[in-house]
Amino acid sequence: MTVVAREKKWWKEAVIYQIYPASFCDSNGDGIGDLPGITSKLDYIASLGVNAIWVCPMYESPQIDMGYDISNYEEVYKPYGTVQDMEVLIRETHARGMRIMLDLVINHTSDQHAWFKESRLSKDNAKRDWYIWRPAKFSATGERLPPNNWRCNFGGGSAWQWDEQTGEYYLHLFATEQPDLNWENPVTRKAIYASSMEYWLDRGVDGFRVDTVNMYSKPGDLPDAPIVDPKAAFQPASLLYCNGPRMHEYLGEMNAVLARYGAITVGELPCTPDMAKVLKYVSAKAKQLDMVFQFDVVDVGFGKTHKYETTPRNFTLPDFKAAIGRTQGLIFGSDGWTTAFIENHDQARSVSRFTDDRPEFRALGAKLLALMESCLSGTQYVYQGQEIGTVNTPKESYPVENYLDIDSVLFYQMVKERHGPDNRAELDKAFTALQYLARDHARLPMAWNGKAKFGGFSEAAEKEGTDVKEPWMKPHPLAGEINVASQLDDPDSVLNFWRKMLRFRREHADLLVYGDFRDLRPADKDLFVFVKEDHRGGDKIVVSLNFTTGKKSWQMPTAEELGLKEANLVPITSTHHGKTAEGVLAPFEGQVWLAKAT
Ligand code: GLC
Ligand code: CA
Repeated sequence: MTVVAREKKWWKEAVIYQIYPASFCDSNGDGIGDLPGITSKLDYIASLGVNAIWVCPMYESPQIDMGYDISNYEEVYKPYGTVQDMEVLIRETHARGMRIMLDLVINHTSDQHAWFKESRLSKDNAKRDWYIWRPAKFSATGERLPPNNWRCNFGGGSAWQWDEQTGEYYLHLFATEQPDLNWENPVTRKAIYASSMEYWLDRGVDGFRVDTVNMYSKPGDLPDAPIVDPKAAFQPASLLYCNGPRMHEYLGEMNAVLARYGAITVGELPCTPDMAKVLKYVSAKAKQLDMVFQFDVVDVGFGKTHKYETTPRNFTLPDFKAAIGRTQGLIFGSDGWTTAFIENHDQARSVSRFTDDRPEFRALGAKLLALMESCLSGTQYVYQGQEIGTVNTPKESYPVENYLDIDSVLFYQMVKERHGPDNRAELDKAFTALQYLARDHARLPMAWNGKAKFGGFSEAAEKEGTDVKEPWMKPHPLAGEINVASQLDDPDSVLNFWRKMLRFRREHADLLVYGDFRDLRPADKDLFVFVKEDHRGGDKIVVSLNFTTGKKSWQMPTAEELGLKEANLVPITSTHHGKTAEGVLAPFEGQVWLAKAT
């Protein structure tokens, strides 16, 4: 039972819209999204009913990992625009009553960052220990080996890169071109705060989404990871390098900087299923972060040895519900806060993952998930394109060669190396997994107008007579069917359903944003039935969702299940407007009921 009354804050009630700059809107027709493109769509974003935007990395970068490899925190990637364009975006966002958050990527930099270029010059360079350098190990036969057996996060290779010039290895938990910063050095930490945080806070940003927030502190002796994948040379080591010994000291220090500006934070928190550990990051008393993204839902259906070593739908509805329940449960009896999200730039599209993306079901699935997400507690996040029900690209019309994400490319390459380039069965299995789970699906150009070239990604430039280039990533083969223009004025569209649900959430914020979540029937394989309640009593809200393509009858919750004297349920909204019938759910129908406390 909850014991602490939840303190109300603007950012707890906020809905935050995430933008991927390369793929949102191209204003000048060069095929790459840009900052003026984002600014030109602010009215559209505001019209959804969101309160803030989070812009993925727009900093100077060689784009090995789409801007998560930063070569200068204080510059903008040229194709996106300039620092002045950022100032305009910040001002115009504020002018519409919204806030703006940036992505804070400070576990690593690009290998092209001036700090790393200096660090690799020589062993006695002043910036040598700004990164994590170690001598080689040698096998019994004298073969040179990396300092430990850690696998990096992309593909199956080592997390260490040999540097010929100075004869040592450097650590990179992600791509080779993303060396990890050494947070042990206090001078480095100060420089990070000044360049990546203060520089932008001084220009008016309101907060940060903090990338890989639990990886800064590595275990002192960098021990080998246990062997869980005997067929691989390098082992997943995230349990060793996540949540390291000095993490909370560092975050406390960072928070002192952020607090001077009243900035808000949401940290990305992978590999932390233990709620007590999560709370250390988000307990209000601890003064570390305001919120985190837990990975319960993200990891649903992922492979155990590698996230893409799996088959589509490798989970049951009870698995999915339990994952949501864990993230929702973070606020029970605690002073922490949670988040509600099912998509971001690292996930495939939720309609394809969790419902059914065949043409006859996809809009229904999108509405069902919109209704579900809008009824969950915590700060809500919507990812660009989610609001129009974007689906994964079909296998037949979008070949694996079109996938550009380093994570996809290195995985596919690993499978080729392991099984040979002609092993059709294994390669097809890999493609099937990518078609289902790859990050690429979130990164295709946004489809603004199905009738314009390239799904309207560069529409404004085209209208001005510019000969627009093909987008950097091949456009979505279904852009003609799923796009913003065709949904704007259609009262039945996924887009307008989202607007309606965000309004509904605001109207019932006490229960929907701040209430306690309770899954009424966790074992049900077809239906998700949950209640939102306040432990101090009062009305409750019941949500019933049919996750199947068939019609389902269901038992309305009893007074006993609800913990009320009487089960007096009144329908208040549904995905199938107005047609709510007691005891029956149409395919992918979602219904919301008010249970009066009498
Ligand atoms: C985070 C980002 C992801 C990136 C990685 C490395 O997980 O969300 O896109 O590849 O960090 O920076
Ligand atoms: Ca552009």
